[in-house]
Amino acid sequence: MISKALISLLTIALSLASTAQQQVTIPIETKDNVLVLQTDADNRLSTIYFGGKLKDSLEYAQIARGYRTDDNNTGISNNAYTPAGTWNLMEPALQVIHGDGNTSTELKYTAHETTRIDANVELTTVTLKDPVYPFEVKLFYKTYAAENILEQWTEIRHQEKKRVVLKKYASANLYLTGRKFFLTHFAGGWAREMQPEETELSSGIKTLDTKLGARADLFQPPSFYVSMDRPASETEGKVLMGTLAWTGNYKFDFEKDPYGHLRLITGINPFASDYSLDAATTFKTPSFITTLSENGKGEASRNLHSWARKYRLRDGNGRRLTLLNNWEATYFDFDETKLVGLFKGAKDLGVDLFLLDDGWFANKYPRNHDSAGLGDWQENRAKLPHGIGYLVKEATAAGIGFGIWVEPEMVNPKSELYEKHRDWVLRQPERPEHYYRNQLVLDLVNPEVQDFVFGILDTLLTKNPKLAYIKWDCNAVIYDAHSIYLSRKKLPQTHIYVEYVRGLYKVLERVRQKYPAIPMMLCSGGGGRVDYEALKYFTEYWPSDNTDPLERVFIQWNNSYFFPSIASCNHVTNSGNQPLKYKIDVAMMGKPGFDIVVGHLPAEDLNFARQSLKTYDSISDLVWHGDLFRLIDPNENNIASLLYASPNKSRAVMFNYLTNFRTLLAPIIDPVRLNGLDPARNYAIREINRYPGNTGGGLSEKVTYSGDYLMRVGVNPVVTAKRSSVILLIEEVK
Ligand code: DGJ
Repeated sequence: MISKALISLLTIALSLASTAQQQVTIPIETKDNVLVLQTDADNRLSTIYFGGKLKDSLEYAQIARGYRTDDNNTGISNNAYTPAGTWNLMEPALQVIHGDGNTSTELKYTAHETTRIDANVELTTVTLKDPVYPFEVKLFYKTYAAENILEQWTEIRHQEKKRVVLKKYASANLYLTGRKFFLTHFAGGWAREMQPEETELSSGIKTLDTKLGARADLFQPPSFYVSMDRPASETEGKVLMGTLAWTGNYKFDFEKDPYGHLRLITGINPFASDYSLDAATTFKTPSFITTLSENGKGEASRNLHSWARKYRLRDGNGRRLTLLNNWEATYFDFDETKLVGLFKGAKDLGVDLFLLDDGWFANKYPRNHDSAGLGDWQENRAKLPHGIGYLVKEATAAGIGFGIWVEPEMVNPKSELYEKHRDWVLRQPERPEHYYRNQLVLDLVNPEVQDFVFGILDTLLTKNPKLAYIKWDCNAVIYDAHSIYLSRKKLPQTHIYVEYVRGLYKVLERVRQKYPAIPMMLCSGGGGRVDYEALKYFTEYWPSDNTDPLERVFIQWNNSYFFPSIASCNHVTNSGNQPLKYKIDVAMMGKPGFDIVVGHLPAEDLNFARQSLKTYDSISDLVWHGDLFRLIDPNENNIASLLYASPNKSRAVMFNYLTNFRTLLAPIIDPVRLNGLDPARNYAIREINRYPGNTGGGLSEKVTYSGDYLMRVGVNPVVTAKRSSVILLIEEVK
């Protein structure tokens, strides 16, 4: 008996060893995490692990043996890039019609290589080939070790005789094990962007997607996080944050498979987007960017922020300019004299520049409202008889910079551009047009249109080399998706969504080649475009047209999961019932601007605003480049509290806001525990940016505490209805 058992154990061990010999195991590591890919006996590639690194990397090869997921009636759930039409029974990452009409694809591992790009960055490329068709997919995994970031994309190529139709072509196909998965995504609409919703995923597929064409967001941004086993807090729990770098239609499928594991397939939305690929042409999918943390959401966000500042956001380690915008101050109702009058306000406030918004252009159909003129980018002679050049000159004389708004991808049907170039407009020629904000989208698939759009920026910037800032807006979505250019070129209309976004990137690339330094704000009818591909070209983004500061606390908070504060443009406007101090304090959690008539401010408000900008100068390094710690979540409490600490932990600034104004509310009783400090050092705390006369709170004098005390016990910012926003400065005392 005993010897029989021994023999069978030995046989198992030997057969495992011989399988292991044929197997290829590919660990893709960052500082703390690893994604492990492994071939199976049929040379298919699977994801066998995505989690914290093991001490002994030789043990990665063993992981798959612990899982009994090899029953043959469900297929392979953890394939690294799941093809359709052969063995797969789950949501595919790739679905293809081959040149001969065959709908089946198989992908087998053929090779991989890892290249070190620099001390922090590595690129692993895995080549998968179909054994029957000359068709291949390369999987790219770029790791940013210190930031724990994994960037993934794919390249698809073939050498078939006829075009291959790509029906689905994901960027990433991840696999997470765990017992429970809690998905947090962000719903909303215009002026109510980024409203979080958390759901425990059940078996089957939960899809997040967009079919808007010219932007990713209106209802749902391409960013989410998944907590594993239990909802993660800021400091505890395992959480994966993910975001797709694509400024158009996307689709995320979260599929809880029959084993209770999570398959995650992300990329361009295949909706109406069959792509016919010529032989020897590469189709590159957008980057899907993830970070994994076993220490909660706070660490995951800091990973993304550090990565973005260093590697992605335009001028992420630089400075930002404060500004006075005229949109909510004047809307379309302005002329040269009124604008020059506003410059004085900008100077009085002490902002860096004046930003002229919508309404400055078009003559035959003047842009005096949002239903005419878009597309006709000549200065409106009635409003600006001396042109933009004059405004730039006057602003310079007033000691401020001058910036300008454009919405170059769009056209009003009431415009000379539309009259001249209907063939440049995305529309169904046989059907009535549908408008979003009275406008249509130009056909950026067409290189002539790309030249036109580039030309708008180029003309403005060559004629006015001193222009200091651009706000790039995009208010419409793509209805009636039809490109006359694609028809002329005999290309399928189903290329339209992909090629629109590629056309946009081509234009932005040209703009940045020629004008690398000018700061540019990415805006899309509020916060419709906030993604990491567009942010390669932009220094900042506009989170929402909702400028009520109470709402902004939430919108900015929710964006902060994925995007660093240096990129967030926050404007003080007349919107909202909160005091000016509250508005300014909220705007300071990012890059502040004003959108008011400064001359209408009472003298003490003006003095306070001016003083606030000086205070901002003294803390902006922390907000721009510091580490963000979210302390009290307004989604679950009556206050919001967060802190930015310098990476060397010597200084921090803490923002606190009342977010529930009910009069029966109990006062904030408990201290708020700080984070991001050194327990072994001492820190002095004092309140800054106090409105003159508001002396409550008892925090005006410096009080010194140990970091240990502040992080275990905390400090009470004394947020009350009379002190609805409180900023504390925390400085090391030696
Ligand atoms: C929408 C933007 O979000 C606003 O800030 C403003 O620029 C308007 N467009 C102008 O039309």
